[in-house]
Amino acid sequence: MNTLENSNVIVNKVEKSRLGDVDFNNLTFGNIFSDHMFECDYKDGKWQTPVIRPYGMLTISPGAKVFHYGQAVFEGMKAYKDETGDVFLFRPEKNFERINKSSKRMAIPEFPENYFFEGLHTLLNLDKDWVQPGNGNSLYLRPFAIATQVGVSASPADEYKFMILMSPVQAYYTGDVKVIIAQQYSRSANGGVGAAKAAGNYGAQFYPTNLAKEKGYDQVIWTDADEHKYLEEAGTMNVFFRINDTLITAPTSDRILDGVTRNSVLKLAERDGIKTDVRKLTVDELVAAAKDGSLKEIFGSGTAAVISPVSSFCYDETDYDLVKPGDSYATRFKKELMDIQYNRAEDPFGWRVKVK
Ligand SMILES: Cc1ncc(COP(=O)(O)O)c(C=O)c1O
Repeated sequence: MNTLENSNVIVNKVEKSRLGDVDFNNLTFGNIFSDHMFECDYKDGKWQTPVIRPYGMLTISPGAKVFHYGQAVFEGMKAYKDETGDVFLFRPEKNFERINKSSKRMAIPEFPENYFFEGLHTLLNLDKDWVQPGNGNSLYLRPFAIATQVGVSASPADEYKFMILMSPVQAYYTGDVKVIIAQQYSRSANGGVGAAKAAGNYGAQFYPTNLAKEKGYDQVIWTDADEHKYLEEAGTMNVFFRINDTLITAPTSDRILDGVTRNSVLKLAERDGIKTDVRKLTVDELVAAAKDGSLKEIFGSGTAAVISPVSSFCYDETDYDLVKPGDSYATRFKKELMDIQYNRAEDPFGWRVKVK
């Protein structure tokens, strides 16, 4: 094994890349990982020297707290390649800030900024051939932190592992999504962990989402836990509603994830002169708008699919169909975002970060 060292990260390179074994035209989202991974342990009250090493198994005690109390957080971001072969990240500081916000909420020590960015850039440099060119192709990046300390007492761990994995993905085309509005189950509650990317938030959605799938829906749109009255967000997406020509989305709160794509859509809409309204929207208003024809579009926003247009929603056993308008905002924002991500358009907001 080849060992190099730079200022913060120790790098152990693979002897032989697995790149040649991968069929990049037939990828399933997120189940193949690139040659290298980033790993950093927390012990004795501090994060130790990070290591980049060949992707491989971990040895963790079954008594580690992550398995018993779900003390775990994660992020989802992507690296994109332009036509000249340069690799870019999209607003990565937002994901860094968010994982530390999630960690704080889950009593996990925050991760140092220089380790995070040096780790990301070094990993991406090593595995840049895993970022395939072409619209929609990208390398999905999965930073995460888990409690590794052994002990089944219900208290925060004092040992953790922070890792970054990278997985090549193709355009995540969801098709037009059919959604059902939650009337029984809830994703998050006031004062809870909805605004954190805590692993358990996602596991808790699987059962109600499976029930929705059995009925023929792709996703649940979550509503507030108290009254199921206000529309909040979907599985791994924030949600936008276009009523007449105004784009409405829920305000972020301790129940809703502050999505990077959501924030970017709002900024693009402002730039493009599209009226935005960040406010609580009730299910009753949505149903009334669907009935009187003023509801023009619903779409989800998130890193994985960028923008997912919703083709119908179900509420109280009734389906409401949506016909995509000619001047679809979903299509417009998807193109505008991807043109910035793939370095095909000006970047007036300074969102693109070139991998050094
Ligand atoms: C619950 C939830 N909402 C919204 C989003 C969209 O966030 P982003 O645009 O940062 O990917 C995600 C994905 O990270 C999510 O998990």
